[in-house]
Amino acid sequence: MTTLQRAEAAEHALSQELDRVVVKSVIFTSGERDPRQPNPRPPDDGRLYMMGHDPRLPRMPDKPTLFDFFRYRFGPSTHLLQSARLAMKNGVGEKVVLACLLHDIAIAGFIRSDHGYWSAQLLEPYVDEEVTWGIRYHQALRFFPDESVGYRYPELYLKLFGSDYVPEPHIQAAYRYARDHKWYMTSRLITVNDLYSFDPSVKVELEEFTDVVGRHFRQPKEGLGFDQSPSAHMWRTINWPTRYL
Ligand SMILES: [Fe+2]
Ligand SMILES: [Fe+2]
Repeated sequence: MTTLQRAEAAEHALSQELDRVVVKSVIFTSGERDPRQPNPRPPDDGRLYMMGHDPRLPRMPDKPTLFDFFRYRFGPSTHLLQSARLAMKNGVGEKVVLACLLHDIAIAGFIRSDHGYWSAQLLEPYVDEEVTWGIRYHQALRFFPDESVGYRYPELYLKLFGSDYVPEPHIQAAYRYARDHKWYMTSRLITVNDLYSFDPSVKVELEEFTDVVGRHFRQPKEGLGFDQSPSAHMWRTINWPTRYL
């Protein structure tokens, strides 16, 4: 190929990529539309369907790391960073600091509903079981005070859910199970350091946690999403959320 041909081929590939048909997943639109109805799709006009990188999103490196996901796919992770810093300041162990840094990653970049469970599942192949156990159950423990460590029912929840909100039976059951578990305190410490009323002028950088992550997160050499782990597909979906299949 000549240089000109190569340039033309690259331009063609780019315009095809920009022009792919995107059909949204049902879960992205359920509620805004009735999921029992056919999922609306744009006319394809003979165009190809989205099967990889969505050009509307920043491109991820070929072998993405945990921090790449923070940088390119998660919103500003102030809440996570501030919680992890508070945990560090409170002198908890590194595993709990890591758990605080990652406890809400499902909210940051994947699915909000049942976020403790999704976050734990994303991380399970890469961190100690105790870390994901704590992350899974922090969702339920947040609703239940523990005076022994000074944890009260969050003011914020009163505002968000109303004073008469009662956690559903499955959350109550999860709480009862967690309360009697040997790792209860790991999960409880996440709730203790789960910080909502932070000072917006305080900036915490991701790099502050490079060492903790380096020591306790087993970054796959193929990149998150490409290592055939039991949750690799979930990382790929965050990377390429609009793939047709
Ligand atoms: Fe949470
Ligand atoms: Fe949180």
